[in-house]
Amino acid sequence: MEPARVTELPAELKYIQYQHSLETQYLPAIRALISKDLSEPYSIYVYRYFLYQWGHLCFMALDPIDSSLVGVIICKLEMHKSHSPSTLRGYIAMLAVSAPYRGHGVATALVRRAIDAMTQRNADEIVLETEETNVPAMRLYERLGFIRSKKLHRYYLNGNSAYRLVLPLKPTDEDAATDLALDDTDLATR
Ligand SMILES: CC(C)(COP(=O)(O)OP(=O)(O)OC[C@H]1O[C@@H](n2cnc3c(N)ncnc32)[C@H](O)[C@@H]1OP(=O)(O)O)[C@@H](O)C(=O)NCCC(=O)NCCS
Repeated sequence: MEPARVTELPAELKYIQYQHSLETQYLPAIRALISKDLSEPYSIYVYRYFLYQWGHLCFMALDPIDSSLVGVIICKLEMHKSHSPSTLRGYIAMLAVSAPYRGHGVATALVRRAIDAMTQRNADEIVLETEETNVPAMRLYERLGFIRSKKLHRYYLNGNSAYRLVLPLKPTDEDAATDLALDDTDLATR
Protein backbone atom coordinates (compact mmCIF):
# COMPACT_ATOMS: atom_id res chain seq x y z
CA MET A 1 0.00 0.00 0.00
CA GLU A 2 1.20 3.54 -0.82
CA PRO A 3 2.23 5.59 2.25
CA ALA A 4 -0.22 8.40 3.09
CA ARG A 5 0.36 11.78 1.44
CA VAL A 6 1.69 14.44 3.77
CA THR A 7 -0.62 17.47 3.92
CA GLU A 8 2.24 19.70 5.03
CA LEU A 9 5.99 19.23 4.76
CA PRO A 10 7.35 18.18 8.21
CA ALA A 11 9.89 21.00 8.34
CA GLU A 12 12.30 22.72 5.96
CA LEU A 13 13.74 19.98 3.79
CA LYS A 14 17.52 19.96 3.32
CA TYR A 15 18.65 20.47 -0.29
CA ILE A 16 22.15 19.19 -0.99
CA GLN A 17 24.41 18.68 -3.96
CA TYR A 18 25.40 15.06 -4.63
CA GLN A 19 29.03 14.05 -4.12
CA HIS A 20 30.82 10.74 -4.62
CA SER A 21 31.30 10.22 -0.89
CA LEU A 22 27.48 9.90 -0.66
CA GLU A 23 27.19 7.04 -3.18
CA THR A 24 26.92 4.18 -0.67
CA GLN A 25 24.44 6.09 1.46
CA TYR A 26 22.17 7.43 -1.31
CA LEU A 27 22.58 5.63 -4.66
CA PRO A 28 20.29 2.69 -3.69
CA ALA A 29 17.60 5.15 -2.54
CA ILE A 30 18.02 7.28 -5.70
CA ARG A 31 17.57 4.19 -7.89
CA ALA A 32 14.56 3.01 -5.90
CA LEU A 33 12.87 6.43 -6.05
CA ILE A 34 13.43 6.91 -9.77
CA SER A 35 12.64 3.38 -10.93
CA LYS A 36 9.37 3.38 -8.98
CA ASP A 37 7.63 5.80 -11.34
CA LEU A 38 9.57 6.14 -14.55
CA SER A 39 8.60 3.92 -17.46
CA GLU A 40 12.22 3.21 -18.46
CA PRO A 41 14.25 0.86 -16.23
CA TYR A 42 17.82 2.12 -15.91
CA SER A 43 20.85 0.00 -15.01
CA ILE A 44 23.33 1.06 -12.32
CA TYR A 45 25.71 2.09 -15.14
CA VAL A 46 23.28 4.75 -16.34
CA TYR A 47 23.21 6.32 -12.88
CA ARG A 48 27.01 6.14 -12.62
CA TYR A 49 27.40 7.67 -16.11
CA PHE A 50 25.58 10.77 -14.90
CA LEU A 51 26.78 10.90 -11.29
CA TYR A 52 30.50 10.31 -11.96
CA GLN A 53 30.69 13.09 -14.53
CA TRP A 54 28.04 15.55 -13.41
CA GLY A 55 27.48 14.84 -9.71
CA HIS A 56 27.65 18.62 -9.24
CA LEU A 57 24.44 18.85 -11.33
CA CYS A 58 22.58 16.36 -9.13
CA PHE A 59 20.59 17.68 -6.17
CA MET A 60 18.77 15.82 -3.43
CA ALA A 61 15.97 16.87 -1.07
CA LEU A 62 16.38 15.17 2.31
CA ASP A 63 14.14 14.81 5.33
CA PRO A 64 15.73 17.05 8.00
CA ILE A 65 15.08 14.52 10.78
CA ASP A 66 16.49 11.25 9.42
CA SER A 67 18.20 12.50 6.22
CA SER A 68 16.15 10.05 4.11
CA LEU A 69 15.76 10.83 0.41
CA VAL A 70 12.61 12.76 -0.52
CA GLY A 71 13.48 13.91 -4.05
CA VAL A 72 16.28 13.93 -6.61
CA ILE A 73 17.25 15.54 -9.91
CA ILE A 74 20.03 14.20 -12.18
CA CYS A 75 21.43 16.20 -15.10
CA LYS A 76 24.31 16.55 -17.53
CA LEU A 77 25.90 19.42 -19.43
CA GLU A 78 27.69 18.92 -22.75
CA MET A 79 28.94 20.90 -25.71
CA HIS A 80 27.16 20.03 -28.98
CA LYS A 81 29.62 20.95 -31.69
CA SER A 82 27.38 19.79 -34.54
CA HIS A 83 25.17 22.80 -33.85
CA SER A 84 26.04 26.05 -35.47
CA PRO A 85 27.06 27.88 -33.38
CA SER A 86 28.20 25.20 -30.86
CA THR A 87 25.69 24.85 -28.05
CA LEU A 88 26.40 24.12 -24.39
CA ARG A 89 23.32 22.08 -23.63
CA GLY A 90 22.08 21.07 -20.20
CA TYR A 91 19.90 17.98 -20.01
CA ILE A 92 17.58 16.97 -17.17
CA ALA A 93 17.76 13.18 -17.28
CA MET A 94 15.79 12.18 -14.19
CA LEU A 95 13.54 13.86 -11.65
CA ALA A 96 11.46 12.21 -8.94
CA VAL A 97 9.84 13.10 -5.65
CA SER A 98 8.61 10.52 -3.16
CA ALA A 99 4.83 10.16 -3.59
CA PRO A 100 3.72 11.35 -0.09
CA TYR A 101 5.72 14.57 -0.50
CA ARG A 102 4.38 15.61 -3.92
CA GLY A 103 2.49 18.82 -4.57
CA HIS A 104 4.55 20.92 -2.12
CA GLY A 105 7.05 22.43 -4.54
CA VAL A 106 9.89 19.97 -3.88
CA ALA A 107 10.44 19.21 -7.59
CA THR A 108 10.21 22.92 -8.40
CA ALA A 109 12.97 23.64 -5.86
CA LEU A 110 15.16 20.85 -7.31
CA VAL A 111 14.67 22.01 -10.92
CA ARG A 112 15.46 25.61 -9.89
CA ARG A 113 18.74 24.45 -8.32
CA ALA A 114 19.66 22.54 -11.47
CA ILE A 115 18.81 25.54 -13.68
CA ASP A 116 20.96 27.82 -11.47
CA ALA A 117 23.91 25.41 -11.51
CA MET A 118 23.77 25.07 -15.32
CA THR A 119 23.31 28.83 -15.80
CA GLN A 120 26.40 29.45 -13.64
CA ARG A 121 28.32 27.09 -15.94
CA ASN A 122 27.24 29.16 -18.93
CA ALA A 123 24.71 26.73 -20.47
CA ASP A 124 22.95 28.02 -23.58
CA GLU A 125 19.82 25.96 -23.01
CA ILE A 126 18.36 23.12 -20.97
CA VAL A 127 16.35 20.32 -22.56
CA LEU A 128 14.45 17.24 -21.38
CA GLU A 129 11.79 14.81 -22.48
CA THR A 130 8.66 14.01 -20.58
CA GLU A 131 5.65 11.81 -21.29
CA GLU A 132 2.84 13.83 -22.82
CA THR A 133 0.44 12.39 -20.23
CA ASN A 134 2.62 13.48 -17.28
CA VAL A 135 0.51 16.48 -16.27
CA PRO A 136 2.42 17.39 -13.04
CA ALA A 137 5.76 17.35 -14.87
CA MET A 138 4.49 19.33 -17.90
CA ARG A 139 2.90 21.86 -15.59
CA LEU A 140 5.95 22.28 -13.41
CA TYR A 141 8.35 22.71 -16.34
CA GLU A 142 6.09 25.09 -18.27
CA ARG A 143 5.62 27.19 -15.14
CA LEU A 144 9.42 27.49 -14.96
CA GLY A 145 9.59 28.76 -18.56
CA PHE A 146 10.28 25.57 -20.54
CA ILE A 147 8.58 25.49 -23.94
CA ARG A 148 7.49 22.54 -26.09
CA SER A 149 9.97 22.20 -28.93
CA LYS A 150 8.95 18.86 -30.45
CA LYS A 151 6.50 15.99 -30.06
CA LEU A 152 8.25 12.60 -30.07
CA HIS A 153 5.78 9.95 -31.18
CA ARG A 154 5.92 6.60 -29.33
CA TYR A 155 9.15 7.70 -27.67
CA TYR A 156 8.96 5.40 -24.63
CA LEU A 157 9.11 1.61 -24.41
CA ASN A 158 5.50 1.62 -23.19
CA GLY A 159 4.45 3.21 -26.51
CA ASN A 160 3.69 6.61 -24.99
CA SER A 161 4.67 9.78 -26.79
CA ALA A 162 6.79 12.50 -25.27
CA TYR A 163 7.39 16.21 -25.57
CA ARG A 164 10.87 17.62 -25.81
CA LEU A 165 10.91 20.74 -23.69
CA VAL A 166 13.55 23.45 -23.89
CA LEU A 167 14.48 26.36 -21.67
CA PRO A 168 16.58 28.87 -23.63
CA LEU A 169 19.06 30.60 -21.31
CA LYS A 170 20.64 33.01 -23.79
CA PRO A 171 19.08 35.54 -26.14
CA THR A 172 18.75 34.07 -29.65
CA ASP A 173 19.42 35.83 -32.98
CA GLU A 174 15.65 36.24 -33.25
CA ASP A 175 15.55 38.04 -29.87
CA ALA A 176 18.35 40.31 -31.05
CA ALA A 177 16.41 41.08 -34.25
CA THR A 178 13.29 41.88 -32.19
CA ASP A 179 15.36 44.13 -29.92
CA LEU A 180 16.72 45.96 -32.95
CA ALA A 181 13.21 46.34 -34.37
CA LEU A 182 12.03 47.70 -31.00
CA ASP A 183 14.99 50.11 -30.95
CA ASP A 184 13.90 51.33 -34.39
CA THR A 185 10.33 51.83 -33.15
CA ASP A 186 11.75 53.68 -30.19
CA LEU A 187 13.68 55.99 -32.46
CA ALA A 188 10.70 56.52 -34.74
CA THR A 189 8.52 57.64 -31.84
CA ARG A 190 11.07 60.02 -30.35
C1 LIG B 1 6.64 15.19 -11.54
C2 LIG B 1 7.06 15.24 -10.06
C3 LIG B 1 8.57 15.20 -9.99
C4 LIG B 1 6.52 16.55 -9.45
O1 LIG B 1 6.99 16.63 -8.09
P1 LIG B 1 6.29 17.65 -7.03
O2 LIG B 1 7.25 17.86 -5.92
O3 LIG B 1 4.94 17.18 -6.70
O4 LIG B 1 6.21 18.96 -7.93
P2 LIG B 1 5.82 20.43 -7.46
O5 LIG B 1 5.02 20.36 -6.20
O6 LIG B 1 7.06 21.26 -7.46
O7 LIG B 1 4.94 20.93 -8.70
C5 LIG B 1 4.07 20.07 -9.38
C6 LIG B 1 3.04 20.84 -10.16
O8 LIG B 1 2.10 19.92 -10.69
C7 LIG B 1 0.82 20.11 -10.08
N1 LIG B 1 0.28 18.77 -9.87
C8 LIG B 1 0.68 17.86 -8.98
N2 LIG B 1 -0.06 16.74 -9.12
C9 LIG B 1 -0.92 16.98 -10.15
C10 LIG B 1 -1.94 16.22 -10.80
N3 LIG B 1 -2.20 14.96 -10.43
N4 LIG B 1 -2.61 16.78 -11.81
C11 LIG B 1 -2.34 18.05 -12.21
N5 LIG B 1 -1.39 18.82 -11.65
C12 LIG B 1 -0.69 18.29 -10.63
C13 LIG B 1 1.11 20.86 -8.82
O9 LIG B 1 -0.05 21.55 -8.38
C14 LIG B 1 2.22 21.78 -9.29
O10 LIG B 1 1.76 22.80 -10.17
P3 LIG B 1 1.36 24.26 -9.61
O11 LIG B 1 2.48 24.71 -8.75
O12 LIG B 1 1.21 25.03 -10.86
O13 LIG B 1 0.11 24.06 -8.83
C15 LIG B 1 6.44 14.06 -9.24
O14 LIG B 1 5.08 14.00 -9.50
C16 LIG B 1 7.10 12.71 -9.54
O15 LIG B 1 8.10 12.33 -8.95
N6 LIG B 1 6.50 11.96 -10.49
C17 LIG B 1 7.04 10.66 -10.89
C18 LIG B 1 8.34 10.80 -11.66
C19 LIG B 1 8.18 11.74 -12.84
O16 LIG B 1 7.17 11.74 -13.52
N7 LIG B 1 9.24 12.55 -13.08
C20 LIG B 1 9.26 13.52 -14.16
C21 LIG B 1 9.81 12.89 -15.37
S1 LIG B 1 10.24 14.15 -16.52
